[in-house]
Amino acid sequence: MTSPTTAPDTRPVPVPAPAAPPVLSVRDVHITDRSTGREIVRGVGFGLTPGRSVGIVGESGSGKTLTCRAVLGILPPHFEVSAGSVEIDGTDTAGLTPASWTALRGSTIGAVFQDPASYLNPSIRVGAQLAEVLRVKKGLGRRAARDRARELLDTVRLREPALVAGQYPHELSGGMLQRVLIATAVAAEPRVLIADEATTALDVTVQAEILDLLADLRERTGLALVVVSHDLAVVAQTCDEVLVLRQGEVVEQGPTHEVLHAPRHDYTRLLVAEHERYGLERFRTAKEDA
Ligand SMILES: Nc1ncnc2c1ncn2[C@@H]1O[C@H](COP(=O)(O)OP(=O)(O)OP(=O)(O)O)[C@@H](O)[C@H]1O
Ligand SMILES: [Mg+2]
Repeated sequence: MTSPTTAPDTRPVPVPAPAAPPVLSVRDVHITDRSTGREIVRGVGFGLTPGRSVGIVGESGSGKTLTCRAVLGILPPHFEVSAGSVEIDGTDTAGLTPASWTALRGSTIGAVFQDPASYLNPSIRVGAQLAEVLRVKKGLGRRAARDRARELLDTVRLREPALVAGQYPHELSGGMLQRVLIATAVAAEPRVLIADEATTALDVTVQAEILDLLADLRERTGLALVVVSHDLAVVAQTCDEVLVLRQGEVVEQGPTHEVLHAPRHDYTRLLVAEHERYGLERFRTAKEDA
């Protein structure tokens, strides 16, 4: 077993830093719970240009999901961005109306969360749900939407897209549902995709396949990714940059290989040490063994 500090760097070869303007700029964001006056997230910042990926890691309750929700404009009712800014594709989101937010979500920025079943209607076939998104967000006609839905199901590597399109959510496995959700999230060709614990509930082999799918979308379409996980190995596999959150604060941030192979903060060392047993390359291994 190799120790994390000497393990070879097996990350995907990073895309060279492009000169393109950022699609997402998060600057020194603070999030406050107005009901208690407590500042839950204190100063998170990162930027993403097309095709790049950033990982947010940290223990339960550290503020990962709230950060994502702030970026998506879906903070719980009594929470607010109390300082800092979020800019999506050059637009400062501070002054956005609910209608502008709705237009932005799905078309410019999309998200996939941990529990795919809860985002699908149990009584409608998945192909029809995906087609509906295409009609609303892309203005496609009925037939074009149906054809495009099948194509998208194929893109997310569902083996029999036509068959899957005709199935109800309960007929699909967790991994298949997560692929359907990713297809739905990328249907309107957003520039940024947020995956918040999107693979956590899946077994290791399926996790590896989904992470590989996200990496592929990123390379082929220039999709920028925010990958949230409490699991460092997920981020090691997919991200150029990593932020380590602890109790609402960024304790360490930098290029993934630097942070993981030469962690500076005690807390990051602890997270890395937790992986000593299986190594940070376990997804790669799991996939090759599959
Ligand atoms: N809807 C809510 N109402 C009240 N408090 C909340 C709500 N959502 C989050 N919090 C609080 O904000 C803090 C950060 O929560 P958040 O969900 O961002 O953590 P997380 O890092 O995503 O954790 P996990 O790994 O468990 O998903 C927690 O202390 C949590 O109790
Ligand atoms: Mg969370």
